[in-house]
Amino acid sequence: MKLVVASIMKFHEIEMQDYLDFLQEVLIPEDRLQARIGELAAEISADYEGKPLMLACILRGGVLFLTDLMRALTIPHTIDFMAVSSYGAGARESSGNVRITLDLQTSVEGKDVLLVEDIIDSGHTIASVIQLLQTRQPRSLRVCTLLDKLERREADVPIHYRGFEIPNKFVFGYGLDLDEYHRNLPFIGVVRPDKYVPPD
Ligand code: IMP
Ligand code: MG
Repeated sequence: MKLVVASIMKFHEIEMQDYLDFLQEVLIPEDRLQARIGELAAEISADYEGKPLMLACILRGGVLFLTDLMRALTIPHTIDFMAVSSYGAGARESSGNVRITLDLQTSVEGKDVLLVEDIIDSGHTIASVIQLLQTRQPRSLRVCTLLDKLERREADVPIHYRGFEIPNKFVFGYGLDLDEYHRNLPFIGVVRPDKYVPPD
């Protein structure tokens, strides 16, 4: 009992800013997100009918999108996860150097693989993942991203399914983080950098 009380106290000691303090605007509200995900799922369900579809989600940002997308699919499919980190650049810039920190647990050979991403920015992350997975002989490999910051693109990435094209602003919510927090928000928000204070 003592332990439980102690951990709750500790949690309350962390000072977290209320997201309303630094939310500039809601760029995509929950109902528009969910409606668009429904459209993407219908398209994917038609395209992959009768095929061995495997959704490969890139952690951690893609998780909320994956879980809503898969619930809206009407065809059988499997899921798997991978994580990548980019190094050699600041926390909000990805460089061309991308490292796989968690690999898929299942084989992609002979499968129709759909990469599920939260956002494609410079494109380096997804370009590296595509390059790696192509060597493992999937039957097909396509990209499905919820958000596309096209203006920032540096790598040439073929995107087959795109939720929304967004302007060059830093966004958070619905899987996307601000220093690992706020992924749980059901909408996509734009941050006001002059108001945001990173947690310790
Ligand atoms: P890329 O390699 O530059 O395309 O970076 C893609 C990754 O950067 C995404 O998977 C996100 O994790 C992160 N990212 C890029 N833009 C944003 C943003 O506006 N908010 C939160 N994360 C972002
Ligand atoms: Mg991501």
